[in-house]
Amino acid sequence: MADGVPSSAVANQTTSNASSAVPITFPDVQAARKRIKGSVYYSPCPHSIPLSDLTGMEIYCKLDNLQRTGSFKERGASNALLQLPPDQQKRGVIAASAGNHAQALAYQGSLLGIPATVVMPMFAPLIKVSNCRKLGATVVMHGAHFGEAKAHAHEIAEKEGLAYIDGYDDPAIIAGQGTMGIEIVDQVPDLDAVIVPVGGGGLLAGVALAVKSLRPKAQVIAVEANNVASFSAALRAGEPTRITTQPTLADGLAIPQVGTNAFNTAKDLVDRCVLVSEEQIALSILRIVEVEKTVVEGSAATPLAACLSGQLPELAGKKVVLLLCGGNIDPNVLSRVVERGLVSDGRLARFTAVISDRPGGLADLTSQIASAGASIKQVVHDRAFAGSDVSAVHVLCTVETRDHQHLAELRQRLQTHGVQTFDAR
Ligand SMILES: Cc1ncc(COP(=O)(O)O)c(C=O)c1O
Repeated sequence: MADGVPSSAVANQTTSNASSAVPITFPDVQAARKRIKGSVYYSPCPHSIPLSDLTGMEIYCKLDNLQRTGSFKERGASNALLQLPPDQQKRGVIAASAGNHAQALAYQGSLLGIPATVVMPMFAPLIKVSNCRKLGATVVMHGAHFGEAKAHAHEIAEKEGLAYIDGYDDPAIIAGQGTMGIEIVDQVPDLDAVIVPVGGGGLLAGVALAVKSLRPKAQVIAVEANNVASFSAALRAGEPTRITTQPTLADGLAIPQVGTNAFNTAKDLVDRCVLVSEEQIALSILRIVEVEKTVVEGSAATPLAACLSGQLPELAGKKVVLLLCGGNIDPNVLSRVVERGLVSDGRLARFTAVISDRPGGLADLTSQIASAGASIKQVVHDRAFAGSDVSAVHVLCTVETRDHQHLAELRQRLQTHGVQTFDAR
């Protein structure tokens, strides 16, 4: 089932097995839905004409980025917190999280008066760290990766009598995430497929359970970032397996080993698992901003990346629901992603033009660029480092063009007017 993961990324360490898994059932998801109604937003799932045009599929977007803390994680957090015994609710809860589960626990905890402590790995995005603090959680920054943060959170839990709430493997969390599946079937009753991002597997397990229980013929497609493909590794090994991860824009998916309960719930319900690259994730964030007018984080852009990657031709013309399950992207990262996306589209480009160092040389160059319909963002006029020919000047040009072809036409036009250009580094 899993395809495309380099096996060298997979270490042989396996730490749990199917026999220790807790079964989670569709009635658990239905009970969660009743329990959390009122504390979690029933997010819309509109049809997207522009994304349908772009992909050739009938695309619907489940907008869980509109939850109060910007992600679906409030579903599971609310379901877990509401089931704690009263004395534990008083002592409080703790979790390790790179951000969204932490924010969800902090916010849903604050609604119920339950104190929350969150241990965040050092790479956690700044926006998620500061949001957790604003929501009233006690934030502990610890660990170079999620595993270290988790071990530290367990130590604190034991010392302080806090309940550890696993963000993707606690049965109450999985059942809570599954409520999104029930809503999706309500909103798009004749769906053909749903595409679900996978980190620790809780979202996939819950949504797959709900969708396959209500619509057995609908396909459930898992999507992972290439750099953190722990679900594919588990499928290959037949059990959760620890992998070596690489940095990814989809920071919410950066879990080196999927959960045992999540894996055992999801493994037979998932029809396919596809992997997407960092470039595809970045471009999908840009597309969603641009055509859908919606801001999503990397994890939530992976379903569109899967559609655009060419790996799902069987979904052409089909009703496909994308889980836009989180919107917590650092504005600095968003701006870099947008700029790189524009470069990769040929809409932002940089080249060096060699012009003669006579009066009017620069004016000629800029007027040629303008006549080609390109817009100059920046020019750097470089006399000192233009090589041995003192009659020549290098001009580093950053321009906005329509696409790669427009850029090629611009450079051809300059060439025809005797201006050499070369790629700028
Ligand atoms: C936005 C977003 N999408 C998807 C996921 C993956 O969820 P799970 O860990 O349950 O697989 C996460 C996890 O944090 C997330 O934050």
